[in-house]
Formats: sequence, structure tokens, C-alpha cells
Amino acid sequence: MIELRHLRKEYENAIPLEDINVTINFGDVISVIGPSGTGKSTLLRCINLLEEPTSGDIFLDGECITAKGCDINRVRKKMGMVFQSFNLFGHLTIIENIMNPQITLLGKSKQEAYDKAMELLSTVGLASKALSYPDELSGGQQQRIAIARTLAMDPEIILFDEPTSALDPSMIGEVQSVIRMLAKSGVTMMIVTHEMDFARKISNRVFFMDEGGIYEEGTPKQIFENPTKEKTRKFIYRLSSLRYRIDSQDFDFSTISEEMQGYSEKLLIEMERVSKLQMSLEELCANNLMQMEKNPDIKIKIEYSEKSDILFLFIRYKGEHFDPKDSDNELFLSILGEKTTEITDEIIKESHDEYNNSISMKFKWED
Ligand SMILES: Nc1ncnc2c1ncn2[C@@H]1O[C@H](COP(=O)(O)OP(=O)(O)O)[C@@H](O)[C@H]1O
Ligand SMILES: [Mg+2]
Repeated sequence: MIELRHLRKEYENAIPLEDINVTINFGDVISVIGPSGTGKSTLLRCINLLEEPTSGDIFLDGECITAKGCDINRVRKKMGMVFQSFNLFGHLTIIENIMNPQITLLGKSKQEAYDKAMELLSTVGLASKALSYPDELSGGQQQRIAIARTLAMDPEIILFDEPTSALDPSMIGEVQSVIRMLAKSGVTMMIVTHEMDFARKISNRVFFMDEGGIYEEGTPKQIFENPTKEKTRKFIYRLSSLRYRIDSQDFDFSTISEEMQGYSEKLLIEMERVSKLQMSLEELCANNLMQMEKNPDIKIKIEYSEKSDILFLFIRYKGEHFDPKDSDNELFLSILGEKTTEITDEIIKESHDEYNNSISMKFKWED
């Protein structure tokens, strides 16, 4: 459907794309991942001709769209783009934001544009907001509107450039669900994202970008579980989290220990910090939460942020609330007392699932 041949893009001070050769097939959902500055945005912007490639060719449905004389506007109509910042028109209502491009660019009648807009608003779950203005909506809602607006053009492919990066963590899920729904319905998409779990679940192909091009390509399984190149491997581990679910009394904590070991070795996290996390985890889960419920249901996520050098432990659980400070474990209490440790525990009032309690801990390091 789209073919890139020897695509190259140079800027004065950088050559983000040296020589890209790749084919995007109808129905592909491609996640584009990689460190910042490796040309992910440039790649998307070249594909829909927001940037002019320095050399090389792009074919869309067999037609060379980089050829002289090609009607750029006609080509762009076939490609939708969703940006980090939603780019809605603030002085127009939501429905107008979605109707206008259909009328001006596709020549649809007002009624047709309205019907389509309303249909899409229902698809993204925001029909009730048709007459609101963008600034009356949350970031997550605005991004869902931006997606509806893109869909209204019936594009052949949608390019997403970090669609959830500007959102509060609490709103990432709703936007991801909309994108996931589109992927399921067969829309061809390319998505630049830093959400590794999302990329893994949603796509059939993953491009890891580095060194001026697509440094490694594969299925999510290949890239996330078995990357063959060193840089990919490092990047994946750095951004991956470890997740577990305890749903019975015979949960085996040694699995976590083993995986934590590997995780910390790859990320070079100090053993001392890792043991503090493990002790806290066992004290919270094995000695308390699991004792309180006959059928425990606990979700655990362990994550490391290289940027802030913080090791995180997130726990969400169903059932009765437990205050970590009520622990009678001296060692655990002393960990809590350290100034490199932070803990918050919460009862989530408007939980969208039944995991109505959360505990999060941060483990920092002091030199
Ligand atoms: N308009 C531009 N002018 C000059 N340099 C640019 C421009 N856009 C991007 N670059 C450079 O190209 C490289 C790749 O940028 P970008 O595609 O935005 O990376 P990513 O999206 O992977 O973070 C960077 O070094 C960036 O500074
Ligand atoms: Mg970018």
C-alpha cells in the first residue's frame, strides 16, 4: 500500500533518515519506537508529505507521490495524522471541528458531514459533547475528538505521532482504547509511541528506529521478547515494566525474584534497592494483603525510570484497605522511614475497575 524506497531526509544539522526501504501493507498496525531524536516524527511527516524528503521515493497504492507534479492535497486526504497536541480549533464546537474539513476538503453537504460526525462521536464515546468547545473537554477527550476528526476524512492510513504523550496518566487508557478499537476494525496505522505495553498488544509489526533508520524490525514478540540487536535490547528493557497478578494463595514469589534479578542486571539498578523493593513487596502482599482475603486479587507493576533514576512499585488490589504503616515488620518500617523511599496509599473512589486500593512506592538512590 505504501512503499518507501531509499527515503532520505537531511536537515542542516542532522540526517534523521539515511536510507529507508520498507513496505506498509493494507491492514498493518505498525508501532514505531526508539529513543528521541531518531527520526520517528520525521518519518511520519515525510510519509504524508508534511516534510519533503531530500531524496528517495514514496509510493501510495502504486503511485509515486514524491514525483514532481503530484497533487499533494489529494494525497494528504488519504492519510490522516494525529498529533501529540490535539490541534482542534478552539473557536469551533466539537461537531464543527469534525464537520468542517469534510465540507471544505471532501465537498460533502452539511447534512452528510453532520451525520458522519455524529456517528464518529458515538464511536469515540463522546456524542454528548457535540456542542461543547475543545477547552471544555479533558485532554483525553480532546484527543478522542481529534481521532474522530481524522476518521471523518476516511483516510487509508492514520499516522499517530505520540498520541498519548501530552496526556495525564489517567487519560492515556481511554485514548489507547479508541486506537485499539480501530486496530481491531482493520484500519491501517502507524503509531509512534513510548508505551511499550500498548505497542506490544496493538501492532502486528514494530519498527525500532536508531542510527538513521529502521534499526530493527519484527513482530511484537520478536522485538519485545527477543530483540537481536544490542541497542534494541537495551531500549526495550529500559522501558519495559514487570507485571504480575496475584489471584490465589499459592502465588510463587520466587518468579518475581528471578525476573527482578535479570531486570536489575540489565538496567544496572543497585542490588540494595532491588532488595528493598522485594522486601516491601513481600511484606505488603504475602504478609498482609494475602492474609486479609481468602481470594486475593492483586496487580503488581514494577518499573524503572532511567530519566529520574527511580524504581517504582505499584500495587492495586481489591477488597479491604490496608494501611502500610500498620505493618509490624520492623525492617519494612525502617525502609519506609528512609528518605530515599516514598510511599502513598489510596482508596480509589471512582475506580473504573474493582481494584479500589492502591499503594505506590518510589525507591530512589543517594550517592
Ligand atoms: N524541522 C527541522 N529542522 C532541523 N532539524 C530537525 C527538524 N525536525 C527534526 N530535526 C532533527 O532531526 C532529528 C530527528 O527528529 P525527530 O524526527 O523529531 O525525532 P523523534 O521523533 O524520533 O524524536 C533530530 O536530530 C532533530 O533535531
Ligand atoms: Mg517525535
